[in-house]
Amino acid sequence: MSTATSLPVARRILLGVTGGIAAYKSADLVRRLRERGAEVQVVMTDGATKFVTPLTFQALSGRPVRTDLWDDAAEAAMGHIELARWAELVLVAPASADFLARLAGGHADDLLSTACLATAAPVWVAPAMNREMWADASTQANVRTLAARGVRVLGPTEGSQACGETGPGRMLEPEALCAALFAAEDAGPLAGLNVVISAGPTREPLDPVRFISNRSSGKMGFAVAAAARDAGARVTLVSGPVSLATPAGLVRVDVETAAQMYAAVHGVIGTADIYIGAAAVADYTPVCCAEYKIKKTADCLELSLHKAPDILASVAALERRPYTVGFAAETNDVEKHALAKLVRKRLDLIAANEVGTDRAFDREDNALLLLWPGGRRELALQSKSALAREFVAVVAERFHAARQPAAAPVPVAG
Ligand code: C5P
Repeated sequence: MSTATSLPVARRILLGVTGGIAAYKSADLVRRLRERGAEVQVVMTDGATKFVTPLTFQALSGRPVRTDLWDDAAEAAMGHIELARWAELVLVAPASADFLARLAGGHADDLLSTACLATAAPVWVAPAMNREMWADASTQANVRTLAARGVRVLGPTEGSQACGETGPGRMLEPEALCAALFAAEDAGPLAGLNVVISAGPTREPLDPVRFISNRSSGKMGFAVAAAARDAGARVTLVSGPVSLATPAGLVRVDVETAAQMYAAVHGVIGTADIYIGAAAVADYTPVCCAEYKIKKTADCLELSLHKAPDILASVAALERRPYTVGFAAETNDVEKHALAKLVRKRLDLIAANEVGTDRAFDREDNALLLLWPGGRRELALQSKSALAREFVAVVAERFHAARQPAAAPVPVAG
């Protein structure tokens, strides 16, 4: 179990449900978590199944519910250690007095307690029980033990209880649990903003089996999309053909050609606050695509190409344009060429990088030079995901600065 308690926002949540009347509230919690783009794997204890059926959680989570450490079929699909590794966060809600005691004691006699021991992810618990049980010295000692080990304890809150008593012991409402889980995102610098990101290469067909493309892997654009999501944005990712998994919690639109990417971007740009063109879009596309496979008959084959639509420039030219960010992949005179592109395409910000053999394309790391009218910042060589987080932080900072009304001119006395 890790002791980290928040950032980045977890997208794969193992939700443990233990025996208590508050288990019915966890059904609503699953719904809310999924609405926020999380994948939820529910693990129920025996006691929990007495209150709510696994079928309810299965329908809401879209995944078979796990209940048994000794279920051969379920273990074959995803073993308990794999399950513990899959989770980016384990949330036990409701956490009964008995479960807290077993967690504090390091028990591993059922699936949920085993997963809690085996995971490297943070473990959060939302206790729910009768007020006397909560106040009992043994429960309080267990909670202190868990908190000291880095388990985050959410609640309980006060109020009327199922037993007819009133006092502390009620599980936090699903809305409050969700707010705690997504606090980092809701307070992020892009909270509530719509961000459209294009990523990956495009493919321009020559005939039914051949195309012109480039070496872009899409890794940088996908990392930027995940970083923008973690900064609180609603992200639409328009992607060329790549072999990357979609980061959870964002909308992905797949395209092949520059013309399709143009149409997809313009289809969603109307509500965008920020557009980040991180795709390696073809500059030229074949004038026509042969209906049949081109035969190897001529000694010399000439291809006729015309300019592909410049998506970035077209977005920047919109009357109601989003804050527009481009990338410049250059092999030489990086700053000079990037600055010229910033001005020519009327961009708000450009991220330049040197490309060529062993640089940027299809690699795990990268460095960027960011330029905007009147400013520049260098981001050092690092993993693309770390770099993407720094890049998004600067984009957010410049976006908010650009939104500030210009300072009023100082009145001249006289
Ligand atoms: O002009 P150049 O291709 O170097 O500009 C790179 C930037 O322009 C990138 O942000 C890329 O996504 C964008 N671009 C585009 N449409 C094109 C070519 C490039 O949006 N046809």
